[in-house]
Amino acid sequence: MYKKKPFFIVFEGVEGCGKSYQSKKLYNKLKKKKIDTILTREPGGTKSSELIRNLILKDYFAKDSKEKFDKYTDTLLYLAARNEHIKNKIKPALLKKKVVICDRFIDSTIAYQVYGKKVELNFIKNIHKRILHGIKPNIVFVLKVSKQTSRKRLIKRKTKNRYDNFAQSFYNKAQNSFIRIAKNKKNYFILDSSNNDNFLEQKIYDVCQKYLNIK
Ligand code: TMP
Repeated sequence: MYKKKPFFIVFEGVEGCGKSYQSKKLYNKLKKKKIDTILTREPGGTKSSELIRNLILKDYFAKDSKEKFDKYTDTLLYLAARNEHIKNKIKPALLKKKVVICDRFIDSTIAYQVYGKKVELNFIKNIHKRILHGIKPNIVFVLKVSKQTSRKRLIKRKTKNRYDNFAQSFYNKAQNSFIRIAKNKKNYFILDSSNNDNFLEQKIYDVCQKYLNIK
């Protein structure tokens, strides 16, 4: 039988991997089971974090490339958004024993800023020590996608953001980074999301059902 407890589920993966779609599907399934659940995302999730998100994503479209944010400014903005998000949304929800589903979290910073942009890991670790309040995901789904499928999904997108335009090599690197982070961790599930079928959403639900003891 399901017993209310704080539970933090994160979806990670490159653009076009379907994590926003899958997190919504899971959210709807848990709600149907009357499980107190919130769905949120990073960067974003609160009014202030969404403002920071806009700032980060807008920067990419700035015409003058000389005026772009330095990679440490960029990183600090992601972390600033995370601080607001944890303090005002994630932590309060977990304290109320809710299930929190988050579209991206700290592994995105490791994959994109550390592995991708070569930002110092210790710089991020030190800030995380102060802002995470010991909060760690209970389970992480890393969605792996083929180049072809991710491309197809991104072309269909109406609103593009900075990373939607990056070169294929950047995606490959980011995807490999996510897989590297997930390897040998018991609570990480690397799942292929290249096919557009219902199989994946069922698989994700099955894992959650087991962890949450849902009948
Ligand atoms: P989204 O595409 O999932 O909406 O996220 C917006 C972009 O932000 C995405 O392309 C990846 C990037 N990102 C980072 O570079 N570092 C981070 O820490 C997070 C949370 C996202």
